Amino acid sequence: MCGIVGYSGLKQAAPILLDGLARLEYRGYDSAGIAVRDGDGEIKVVKAKGRLAVLAEKTDSGKALLGRCGVGHTRWATHGAPSEINAHPHHSDDGNVVGIHNGIIENYKELKELLEKNGYSFYSSTDTEVAIKLIDYYYKKGSGSPIDALTRAMTRITGSYSFAILFKDFPDEIFAARKDSPLIVGVGDDESFLASDVPAILKYTRSVYYIGNYEIAHLSGGKVDFYNIDGERIEKEPSEISWDAATAEKAGYEHFMIKEIHEQPEAVKNTLSSVIHDGKIDLSSVGITDEELKSISTIYIVACGSAYHVGAVMQYVIEDLAGIPVRVELASEFRYRKPVLDKSGLCIIISQSGETADSLAALREAKSRGLRTLAIVNVVGSSIAREADNVFYTLAGPEIAVATTKAYSAQLVAGYTFAVQLAYVLGRIDETKYEDLIAELLTLPEKIETILEDKERLQWFAAKQSSSTDIFFIGRGIDYAISLEGSLKMKEISYIHSESYAAGELKHGAISLIEDGTLVVGCLTQSELYEKTVSNMVECQSRGAYLMAVTTAGNYNTEDIADFTVYIPETDSHFAASLAVVPLQLMSYYVSLAKGLDVDKPRNLAKSVTVE
Ligand code: M6R
Repeated sequence: MCGIVGYSGLKQAAPILLDGLARLEYRGYDSAGIAVRDGDGEIKVVKAKGRLAVLAEKTDSGKALLGRCGVGHTRWATHGAPSEINAHPHHSDDGNVVGIHNGIIENYKELKELLEKNGYSFYSSTDTEVAIKLIDYYYKKGSGSPIDALTRAMTRITGSYSFAILFKDFPDEIFAARKDSPLIVGVGDDESFLASDVPAILKYTRSVYYIGNYEIAHLSGGKVDFYNIDGERIEKEPSEISWDAATAEKAGYEHFMIKEIHEQPEAVKNTLSSVIHDGKIDLSSVGITDEELKSISTIYIVACGSAYHVGAVMQYVIEDLAGIPVRVELASEFRYRKPVLDKSGLCIIISQSGETADSLAALREAKSRGLRTLAIVNVVGSSIAREADNVFYTLAGPEIAVATTKAYSAQLVAGYTFAVQLAYVLGRIDETKYEDLIAELLTLPEKIETILEDKERLQWFAAKQSSSTDIFFIGRGIDYAISLEGSLKMKEISYIHSESYAAGELKHGAISLIEDGTLVVGCLTQSELYEKTVSNMVECQSRGAYLMAVTTAGNYNTEDIADFTVYIPETDSHFAASLAVVPLQLMSYYVSLAKGLDVDKPRNLAKSVTVE
């Protein structure tokens, strides 16, 4: 995944581009570059390996580059190692066409051969250079129109892309195209902006156009035109972004991750309020009627990473409350394994970004098999949101830290409301139980707040664990699903090897890894499974493990066995993940902090994975 920005207007472009890239750096941060039209009409390109700060230093924060039109890119390497030569922008052999790209050109080898036969040579190992030269090839071969060159290149390219291209013959203009990688256009007075994501341009405008698949945008100052792949003009309506720039800033917190952890009560509250009215769940904004809910035979939940972990919780909750079979699948497996699917089933795709390539492909697979699809998505207008039959928007606001926290929490409550409504319309729970569950859901924001108020103890404990080499997270039932998320959070930002295990499964192999001092974190929120997991923890302890427990207030004898216990407020056991995950998020944050790591931008990771 990479970040793209563009500017055409009356101001100096480079500082605006760098500012936009800083807000997109979460999308990729192994190299960066900008291209700007300078006063003499030349397109100047500056690139740098490493973080954006290196590029900013090289260009005196952009001040060294004159010109009022340009594009910028922050890269997460897919084709070609992170290096200055592979960094974008890339240019045609004569420098007439310069561009940046997010996505993957799948047939780049074939296209490269075609171009080589036509006299092109290549300086980088990127698929992007091939794409830029293909556009240049059609530009020269065709009518000399950028739109024509782009449409021809788009019909030849397979894969995913968003492009932002400068043509030397068209000063102050940017041409952009998109398929399966996000791209938006913002319009202000006498200026227009291009970006992969809203935070990059929110400071300047809230009026945005979402560029659709196989669409082209032509930016020229305050004027923006759109075209389809046949080169015909199309009309598009702008959307108004409701959240403000401050929401996308750190607001005094040291990192986005800790800010977003603290935003969870709000994210949960907003998501609940969007579907709970007058004490009842109303999924009309999602577009699913009670009658339609009744006709669902099976539910397939498909997602990646933390979103998959939400699915793991939902499986327990839906099956227990609604009695409908649920299968949870990793999108990267689902899309290729030719699953046997029941046509009257519902496929739920969960994704914060709405752009994850595997989840998008899984959605398309389910649709092509005739299943109805429901997306639980955070980013409005994202590919998954646009392609699914129904969308349940989580109202977490922009999430910047690579490690998801508030989006995970918002997805959980979206899943709970869906499960409770399903159980109710199917007659699996009566009116009283329905109302009790809804009332309990509404207490979650306050309970999360209570956990956040007591974070100092966790910080102290986490600092002591920062030299750990292996950590195990164990639990049964929903507690196992919570462990999955606790373990992922820990490994992705602290670089400590960690595993999550269904507590009862340890004795079948993994317990041999327990050594003197190995930290084992037991999740103990499910009362009927409490004793079982405790005895698994004791088994580990007798082999030298150091024990941490996350359990519900009242289970005070946990302290008799665990070396460190964290209590969460009582709640209905179906909703325990919403509370138990918070100390686990805090712990991984504080371990990463104690190790002095880059919490928000962990190595080798990108916020949304738009490649396979
Ligand atoms: O945008 P998505 O929710 O589709 O992303 C899925 C995963 O890539 C994501 O949850 C990832 O696992 C997070 N970095 C975990 O914190």
